[in-house]
Amino acid sequence: MKGVILAGGLGTRLYPLTYVTNKHLLPVYDKPMIFYPIDTLVKAGITEIMVVVGGPHAGHFIQILRNGRELGLKHLEFAYQEKEGGIADALSLAEDFLDGEDATVILGDNTTDADISKDVQEFSGGGVIFLKEVPDPHRFGVPTFDPKDHSKIMKITEKPVKPDSDFAVTGLYIYDSRVFNFIKAIKPSARGELEITDVNNFYIEKKQLKWSMLNGYWRDAGTFDTLLEAGNFWAKKS
Ligand code: DAU
Repeated sequence: MKGVILAGGLGTRLYPLTYVTNKHLLPVYDKPMIFYPIDTLVKAGITEIMVVVGGPHAGHFIQILRNGRELGLKHLEFAYQEKEGGIADALSLAEDFLDGEDATVILGDNTTDADISKDVQEFSGGGVIFLKEVPDPHRFGVPTFDPKDHSKIMKITEKPVKPDSDFAVTGLYIYDSRVFNFIKAIKPSARGELEITDVNNFYIEKKQLKWSMLNGYWRDAGTFDTLLEAGNFWAKKS
């Protein structure tokens, strides 16, 4: 299993902070944001990773991550996403790096203390998503459960005005190599992006999507409030 961290995009929600560096390099307490998803992968036994970067400050990643050895990585590669084409577009850049292998994918602004090593070890093809109960599901991809069988997800809706459940689809995913066929089949959404939610809905259609509850703390640190909150969480935990 290899790992992919998606850290492209411009981080416009955090302007003016992101005028001078990339969002994923901003501090969350005592570490750059991207150290957290790297740590989640390393704890799950994944030490060969690709980081997809983008925007005008992409060079800063090398200065901070170097060859990744200090963070426990054996192999670190970078890819550059030309435009903000969406999460699925960023993932498409990892196809050659994965070379047919399965991948655990994490968004670069997601921070969690959950241990996903069991899900990684037991992965047996298809896709896996991780859910977390949240007070503000309208900000996320939201699952609709089958009313007759609550263990089954019927669809995922990206940022629904009226969410069908109180769960967020977090930015952690495990995929087999079919993910690249699905990415090639989807079209840009109304916000002009290739949505990871559309990829996950393809897996649902093929009855190949499993889900797990994410045990522990989880935040996407991509807004001023969640950046502060995540920093406070990690400060208390350290
Ligand atoms: O955090 C979980 C949520 O992340 C999910 O519930 C949603 O389904 C998913 O679409 C995503 O929603 P966001 O609106 O929060 O995504 P955002 O545009 O903030 O991008 C999150 C990360 O993905 C970002 O930190 C870097 C990466 N990304 C994003 C875009 C748009 C890229 O690498 N390239 C991109 O073009």
